[in-house]
Amino acid sequence: MDTTANPSATEVTHKVDSTGSLSIVDKRALPRNLAKFLALQDFIDAAQKVLPRPIYGYVTGGVEDNASLRGNRNVFSEVGFVPKPLIDTTARSMKTQLFGRTYNAPFGFAPMGGTSTACYRGDTVLASIAAQNNIPMMMSGASLMKMEDVKAAGRTAMFQAYLPGDEERIQKTFERCEKAGFDTIAVTVDVQVPANRENNVRNGYSTPLRPSLRLAWDVGVRPKWLFGMFLKTLMTDGMPHVENMGPRVPMLAAHASRDYGRRDRLSWKHIAFMRKIWKGNLLIKGVVDKEAVRIAREHGLNGVMVSNHGGRQLDGTVAPARVLPGIREAAGKDMAVIMDSGFRRGTDILKALALGADFCFVGRPFLCAAACAGAPGVAHAVSLLMDEIDRDMAQIGLNFPKEITMDYLMPMTGADFLTDAR
Ligand code: GLV
Repeated sequence: MDTTANPSATEVTHKVDSTGSLSIVDKRALPRNLAKFLALQDFIDAAQKVLPRPIYGYVTGGVEDNASLRGNRNVFSEVGFVPKPLIDTTARSMKTQLFGRTYNAPFGFAPMGGTSTACYRGDTVLASIAAQNNIPMMMSGASLMKMEDVKAAGRTAMFQAYLPGDEERIQKTFERCEKAGFDTIAVTVDVQVPANRENNVRNGYSTPLRPSLRLAWDVGVRPKWLFGMFLKTLMTDGMPHVENMGPRVPMLAAHASRDYGRRDRLSWKHIAFMRKIWKGNLLIKGVVDKEAVRIAREHGLNGVMVSNHGGRQLDGTVAPARVLPGIREAAGKDMAVIMDSGFRRGTDILKALALGADFCFVGRPFLCAAACAGAPGVAHAVSLLMDEIDRDMAQIGLNFPKEITMDYLMPMTGADFLTDAR
C-alpha cells in the first residue's frame, strides 16, 4: 500500500468543534488506500501483509493458549445495551476529562513497546496524531525512541514505566521523565518476570531480533516494511535501540541481551517511594484486583489502569471489563479508573464506561494503523472510533459519555459480574 501520496494526517481526521461535537468527514474524500478501512479490526487484519511474521506475531499475539486474549474480547459480547429512546442528543459531545484535562474523546493510545518496530518513528507518529486530536497517548518504557523526542512530538503524551525493585533506577527514570516534560507516569506491575510467549518462539521473534536466514526471508517478503520502516530508520536515525529502560540494547543484534533488573522485587514499598519523589500523576498499570486498588488509593496514587496487558502476561487472567464494577467502588471518586485490553469498537468503550471506567486506552489497532498507513492511517483509525462512539451515543440516548451507567446494561449471555455488582 503506497502511503507516500496520502494527504496530511489532519486532512483525514474528522472534525471536532470547540464544543466537542463531531462533524464526520465525507468518506469519499478519503484516499483510496484508507477508504477500505471501515473498522479498527481491518487494520489488524491488513497489518499481517505489511509486517514481517515475527513482528506481526509479537504485536498481535498473547501468551500461552491465548485464554486472556480471547477473554478480553468475549466479555464485551456478554453485555448488552438497554438504550433510552426519545432523548434529544443533538448537543452530544464525547469530550471527557482525565486528570483535570478535557480530551476530545474518552479514549487514548495504550503503551506498546513494539510501535517503532512496526512503523517508521512509530512512537512520534502516535504522539503527534494523539496531540492533533487532543486525546492522550501513553508511550511505552520499552519504546525504541527517546522519551524526550516522543514528548516533543505530542503534548498529550504520558509515560509508562517498566521498573525493577531498585530505588536508584526508579529515581533516575523519574528524573528523566520530569526533565522530558511528562506529568503522568504509569508503572506497570504485571511484568514480574517475562511472559511465556511461545508464539514469539514459533514466529522467530526475540528482543533483540537475532539475524538469521529465516529472519532475512521473513523481512524480504515484506518490502514495504523493509524499505519504508527498517532501511529508512537505519538511514535516518541509525539502528533503533531500547532507549528508556536499563542499558541501550539494539533492535537487531546477534548477542546483546536485555537487562530488566529484578522486577519480581518491585513491591508496595517501591510504590510508596515513587509517590514520595513524583509530584505528577502516578498510576499503576496491570491491575484487576480491587484490593490492590484499595491499597493504591491508600498510597495516594492518582489512578489505576485496569489491564491484563492485552492478554500478554499471565494467561487466564480475568478480563479487565469483568472486574470494573468492583474496582470502581474501591477507587472511589478521586482516583481515575482507566481500562485497556480488548477494545475494538465504540460499543466496547461505552460498555467499559458504563461498568465504571473513566477512560479507555486502545493499543493494537492503532499500532497496526500506523504500520499500514503511517500517520494518516492512525488519524483515520481515530476518526473511525470517534464516529462509532458518536453514533452509539445517539442510539443509546447519551449526550455525554459520563451519563452511561450500569443501568444502561443487561446481560446478553453470562455476565454474572453485572448482577453480582448491583
Ligand atoms: C510489552 O509490554 C509487551 O507486552 O510486549
